[in-house]
Amino acid sequence: MKTITYIALTSILLSCHQQENPSKNWQTQIDSLQSTIKDSYKPGFGEFMSSIQVHHEKLWFAGINQNWKLATFEINEIKESISNIKKYCADRPEVQSLDMIEDPLSNISIAIEKKSMPNFKNGFTLLTSTCNSCHQTTNHGFNVITTPVTPPFSNQNFKVGIKSQ
Ligand code: HEC
Repeated sequence: MKTITYIALTSILLSCHQQENPSKNWQTQIDSLQSTIKDSYKPGFGEFMSSIQVHHEKLWFAGINQNWKLATFEINEIKESISNIKKYCADRPEVQSLDMIEDPLSNISIAIEKKSMPNFKNGFTLLTSTCNSCHQTTNHGFNVITTPVTPPFSNQNFKVGIKSQ
């Protein structure tokens, strides 16, 4: 009888012990996942800006070549980067100034929809000066953005109707 009681007690104790362990394991896993997330790569403000710089440049060549589909794509890429900055760089105080770019971006979208070259050009001038206004507001006035002069890449065609090879 004593032996049976002993076995019963031992197994109760063991099962309690086992119940304690899984939650500890979960906690360890959660801790390790949290530290993985913390250390995982997140693009910085400057990287998003470098990407915006490329799309700003491509947008110009798409627009002046009346390649409105490409222009739509490029303006949407800029919009996407802006919302990614809000999402991934929320801890940067400069994010508060980002909204100034919204109206200039929508103006260009409307010009593209209307396929209006004069509106596109005016919109692009306003967009570029807003890039610079924000740089000045956020103490990055030394980053001066201009209307592009030469196409950024030799391996992309900005004209409409040229077939890919
Ligand atoms: C929040 C307002 C804001 C707006 C709007 C803005 N920028 Fe910036 N930009 C910044 C800040 C802040 C930095 C510095 C980022 C950093 O810390 O690396 C920057 C940096 C840059 C850089 C330098 C990136 C590098 O690492 O070399 C370029 C190029 C740039 N911006 C282009 C643009 C263009 C083009 C536009 C407009 C289409 C624009 N920016 C609009 C705030 C802004």
